[in-house]
Amino acid sequence: MTIDFDREVSRINTHSLKWDELGSRYQLDPAEALPMWVADMDFRPPEAVAELLQDAAEHGINGYYGDNETYLTAVQSWMARRHDFPIEKDWIVWVPGIVAGYSMAIQAFSQPGDGVLVFSPVYHAFARAVHANGRKLVESELINDNGSYRMDFERLPELVDQRTKILLLCSPHNPGGRVWREDELRQLCEFCIERGILIISDEIHQDLVFEGHKHIVTQTLSPEIAKNTITFVAASKTFNLAGFMSGSAIISDDGLRRRYNAQLHACGIGATRLGPLSTAAAYDHGEVWLEKLLPYLKENERLLTEGVEAAIAGAKVMQMEATYLSWVDMSGVDLEISEITRRVERVAKIATNHGGAFGKGGEQYLRFNIACPRSTVIEAVHRLEQAFADLRKQSR
Ligand SMILES: Cc1ncc(COP(=O)(O)O)c(C=O)c1O
Repeated sequence: MTIDFDREVSRINTHSLKWDELGSRYQLDPAEALPMWVADMDFRPPEAVAELLQDAAEHGINGYYGDNETYLTAVQSWMARRHDFPIEKDWIVWVPGIVAGYSMAIQAFSQPGDGVLVFSPVYHAFARAVHANGRKLVESELINDNGSYRMDFERLPELVDQRTKILLLCSPHNPGGRVWREDELRQLCEFCIERGILIISDEIHQDLVFEGHKHIVTQTLSPEIAKNTITFVAASKTFNLAGFMSGSAIISDDGLRRRYNAQLHACGIGATRLGPLSTAAAYDHGEVWLEKLLPYLKENERLLTEGVEAAIAGAKVMQMEATYLSWVDMSGVDLEISEITRRVERVAKIATNHGGAFGKGGEQYLRFNIACPRSTVIEAVHRLEQAFADLRKQSR
């Protein structure tokens, strides 16, 4: 099968969160709305995944999963090939999704009431996991430096205290799409080691990095940093397999891994069949697909950025180095954010994520998912032009 990201595949009535909950969450009719919210793609994954599923359906028996070798080899090989990250197979711990994975790490490595540091605005399920586990959210607000986020190292020491036990790092960063540079990561890791803060590095977006930028796996920076870091990776964002709820924790330190495994054991975690197998199929056979996806996303991003900035006077889209999640700063628009959101949703009928959900500093933003056929991006821009036409006339 040819790889065709332009192809529109209807997802309505397929139990898709993104499409089939538009009514309950946004009061929008999926037949006319543009769902540009939750982070999955409207693209079919690499053909090898469909073949795997066909074979499984034909065979027909869905008993317990065993013999993890294919999965471990695929993860090991992908990390070495794509990320200069040489790992041992026994460092890999399968988890039922990354959110579940880091939530169990929070449980294993901190106590109720302890602090968990995050750089906000950040993926909204970070705060949810921290609160749901009775830990304290410590937010270090990112600085928007000319349309690009940077960490506020100056204020960091005053934010953390003895009870801050974990840093939940999003690398690359969602939202905003920053690929953290080596010097930034080093400074941050050194700070954490000095303060006895364990680093949980959520690198689910590590493969979705655009030309000109290089993702650095946090724990490759030094043996000392590796001893203090748990890395989470997955094929779910990269290859659009989120519904399988599957990922890996990579933990090189034996002591950390033992404690983490004990927590998984306490929760009765065992691998699903199709999670690891679809991951292995995508990692082993999906590289060409991914190489085509990245420039496609980049072009969608360019169209959305130029289109939104022209359509909505005062809107500014953050420079995106990674992810497929466009982060649009509405603080320069001469309207309240509630009115901007109303127009986007009720007039343009576009479902986006509201920035306030991402924590401090996100309040004036909307997040647009651009992992959709180009026609959707073009239609979104067209609708926004109409919904905000009055503002452009005023600003002329
Ligand atoms: C940073 C980050 N971590 C985790 C997830 C979700 O991971 P999972 O579906 O494997 O729990 C997302 C989804 O958008 C994400 O952006």
